[in-house]
Amino acid sequence: MDFIRMKISLSVLLFFHVWLCRAFNDVSTIPFNKGFSHLFGDGNILHANDDNSLQLHLNQNTGSGFKSSDLYNHGFFSAKIKLPSDYTAGIVVAFYTTNQDVFKKTHDELDFEFLGNIRGKAWRFQTNMYGNGSTHRGREERYTLWFDPSKEFHRYSILWTNKNIIFYIDDVPIREIVRNDAMGGDYPSKPMGLYATIWDASDWATSGGKYKTNYKYAPFIAEFTDLVLNGCAMDPLEQVVNPSLCDEKDVELQKADFSRITSRQRMAMKRFRAKYMYYSYCYDSLRYSVPPPECEIDPVEQQSFKETGRLKFINKHHGHRHPKKSRSEVLDARNYGNEDEE
Ligand SMILES: *[C@@H]1O[C@H](CO)[C@@H](O)[C@H](O)[C@H]1NC(C)=O
Repeated sequence: MDFIRMKISLSVLLFFHVWLCRAFNDVSTIPFNKGFSHLFGDGNILHANDDNSLQLHLNQNTGSGFKSSDLYNHGFFSAKIKLPSDYTAGIVVAFYTTNQDVFKKTHDELDFEFLGNIRGKAWRFQTNMYGNGSTHRGREERYTLWFDPSKEFHRYSILWTNKNIIFYIDDVPIREIVRNDAMGGDYPSKPMGLYATIWDASDWATSGGKYKTNYKYAPFIAEFTDLVLNGCAMDPLEQVVNPSLCDEKDVELQKADFSRITSRQRMAMKRFRAKYMYYSYCYDSLRYSVPPPECEIDPVEQQSFKETGRLKFINKHHGHRHPKKSRSEVLDARNYGNEDEE
């Protein structure tokens, strides 16, 4: 009897699992050596034998990171990631697209940044967007998660087309930015590569810098597997001359499952944002008296953020995420919504 019941609940679980994962059945993964190279911290990058998985370590000597070998003019970028467990205060794991190495003053960027925490407290993360060097106009949203990201792998994805941007966790779209003319250059428009890093951000990552990285718990290990690079690889300087080179790939991207948010997914996105988003620049009236043009003000979200969109105000600078290249290059992006982590 119990055995039958167990079998039934297993098949129900399996059904939901297949159903939930359906959206990304049309992506194919790429081995590390086919699409990526090391960014920094060579000795702290450990590859699995099959080349589909790798670990990025952070210890007292250095963090580490990798990047795609090519830049892509639009694309779907994705990886399954498992974050370090236990005491992770001060640590940032970033998964992002950028072209900062090519366009120093006018770079584009789309970010997932995972923020570690003290033992027993949950990981948090933020998403952000910059276009054409708009670093003085941060577009951060901050969230908690509905699962412990250090227990299992989850898929994190960034879709970027010339119409919209979607951040996904598993098959749940958590943020969509729809392009409009008023955004101008703030919408990423030049080819970007995919990056992943782990690094010490003790001065801001956890409770506004109150809790630092504690190397007693090192090495801190972020694991990556099933990497996806689905886009039009091209020379970024060429693209400026002839953007139509990627038209065919753009059409293909826009037809894929991950470009369409079903009504079920849209409901999941609303639920996620109502329950897990705790900061959004769109509701931060102290920072933007007029919300930036892509903001779609949702009355339910607005109600929960009240007047200012932030629970407490803090004004801090933070550096960028490949410290070897740009430690001195402190961005103007301020770190909002950071003091609510007690
Ligand atoms: C991007 O920034 C550069 C330098 O500030 C500017 O000349 C250019 O017009 C901008 N492009 C767009 C599309 O806004």
